[in-house]
Amino acid sequence: MSVRIAPSILSAELSKLADEIAMLEEGGADWIHVDVMDGRFVPNLTFGAKVIESVRKLTKLPIDVHLMVVEPENYFESFAAAGANGMSIHTEVSPHLQRQLNHIRELGCRAGAVVNPSTPLTAVSEVITDLDLLLVMTVNPGFGGQSFIKGSVDKVRRAREMLAENGSKAFLEVDGGIDRKTIRSVWEAGADTFVAGNAIFGAKNPKAEIEELRSRCTVDT
Ligand code: DX5
Ligand code: ZN
Repeated sequence: MSVRIAPSILSAELSKLADEIAMLEEGGADWIHVDVMDGRFVPNLTFGAKVIESVRKLTKLPIDVHLMVVEPENYFESFAAAGANGMSIHTEVSPHLQRQLNHIRELGCRAGAVVNPSTPLTAVSEVITDLDLLLVMTVNPGFGGQSFIKGSVDKVRRAREMLAENGSKAFLEVDGGIDRKTIRSVWEAGADTFVAGNAIFGAKNPKAEIEELRSRCTVDT
């Protein structure tokens, strides 16, 4: 199974975003993860369409937008127009999940659903065929640099089983506290896409850290 590393620009130095994105590209990043927070679903405020548009101008890499916002559908059209390639919405604030996921797809983007640590996987069990990506949070969203919740490993394993049982080819992404110590456990459990903020931008050599993380996702011989 191929491995995707998706650095989160939440931890980047925004005053030199162009350099940071160039560094991620040189380091072999697969996707650029953009964390959108609205100060309502989560306490923090971050980026909107304008920043997505700026990132789009700086890279051809897929832009993976994580919407930590209430009423995410209000942003689908402007974010798609700004250049997002995928949008992931939280089940906790998406009562019409099936319709919302299909709206994202209609806009030509990869449709993702996100479950918080306390949200059971049953929140997505009726919409598996509408999913291009399932994101299992491994911290409570809102901030970078938090510690990985160990209980998430079993949840990732069950998520992988659920996707397999339904013949889904959706990506299984993890986000929060992913670093060289934790990545292998979730990779073994079946995750294939790994968001990392602090682990990359806080590393002595951020560029090399991307490959370092990827190297932990290999079968021992
Ligand atoms: C958390 C965000 C994450 C965050 C990850 O609310 O969704 O994407 O940037 O940061 P680290 O890797 O530092 O936990
Ligand atoms: Zn995120």
